[in-house]
Amino acid sequence: MKTKPYVPGGKLAGAKGPVVMLASNENPFGPNPLAIDAMCEAAASVHVYPDPTYGALREAIARAMGIEDANRIVVSSGSDEIIHLLTQCYAGPGDEILQTEHAFSMYAVSATAHGAACISVPETGLTAGANAILAGVSERTRILFLANPNNPTGTMMSVDALTALQDALPPHVLFVIDGAYAEYVGPDYEAAIRDLVDRRANTVMMRTFSKIHGLAAARLGWAYLPQEIAETFQRIRGPFNVNSLAVAAGIASISDPAFIDMSRAHNTLWRAKMTDALNAMGLATPGSEANFVLPDFGSAERAAAANDFLKARDILVRAVGGYGLPTRLRISVGSAEDNEAVLAALRDFTASR
Ligand SMILES: Cc1ncc(COP(=O)(O)O)c(C=O)c1O
Repeated sequence: MKTKPYVPGGKLAGAKGPVVMLASNENPFGPNPLAIDAMCEAAASVHVYPDPTYGALREAIARAMGIEDANRIVVSSGSDEIIHLLTQCYAGPGDEILQTEHAFSMYAVSATAHGAACISVPETGLTAGANAILAGVSERTRILFLANPNNPTGTMMSVDALTALQDALPPHVLFVIDGAYAEYVGPDYEAAIRDLVDRRANTVMMRTFSKIHGLAAARLGWAYLPQEIAETFQRIRGPFNVNSLAVAAGIASISDPAFIDMSRAHNTLWRAKMTDALNAMGLATPGSEANFVLPDFGSAERAAAANDFLKARDILVRAVGGYGLPTRLRISVGSAEDNEAVLAALRDFTASR
């Protein structure tokens, strides 16, 4: 099979002490303590299969997100599963999946795994644009995957631009707005992309509990979809695709906006501090709307040297050469202490190289 494997953020082999983990866009506060309590309580009942309708979780998501019809919410084992199941439902040999130049890698993995071609259209200044996307649409296009904000660029299209794109997109293309980082933009934006789903029969919003909810290892994602697509999804998913610990954690976490607000505020503060500090070191760092930044080291060699330099100090960030960005490194916004550590190390690096 030609599928390129997904390269995870990973662990640092051979590290002796604690490792500063800034490679996978995880929440530095960990999970919401209420989610930990809920998982501990649920642990006593893991001999019983979960509720296959996931009604309580879907209702909790609907309440928190202002969604009227919980039947149009589906849940999944990480949002990766949504990417795979939508591709399985709607694209196959002879079909095309559309994405932009620096898109999240699982879209291409999923397209290839299902025999569809993955077409990438250019971005401008690391940002997706409606004209380039529309120019990439053909008779064969089945799905447009657009992460907004995007990983690994951190950039996003405005709601107005998304709306115009939605209006211009032919109805045979399923428009999947991947909101993995939507919480870092804020509740108004979350509501805006929810409402885009209601404007058309071809638009889906997918979300994850892996990032701001701090539940990456629990593997929990969800999507808000048109009724017909939700029904198709429910027919083909595994009957117990989400485990009961994830269900308990998800209900607790999504019902507590205070934890999300606190995490977002920390991220906004430190994202700005890190962007300013990296720019001051001469590492051009574009504005990010997500929970990571993407400094430019000027050459692939210098980016690789910086990555090695950080690893030698037990600091793990993400090389993004596989995303067509070999001169950059992606650095997650971590705890204050970890952010200070990576900035201090990069100050030392740039002072000498
Ligand atoms: C844009 C985007 N979409 C989806 C995912 C998948 O997340 P998960 O499967 O953990 O929900 C990620 C993870 O990094 C991501 O960055």
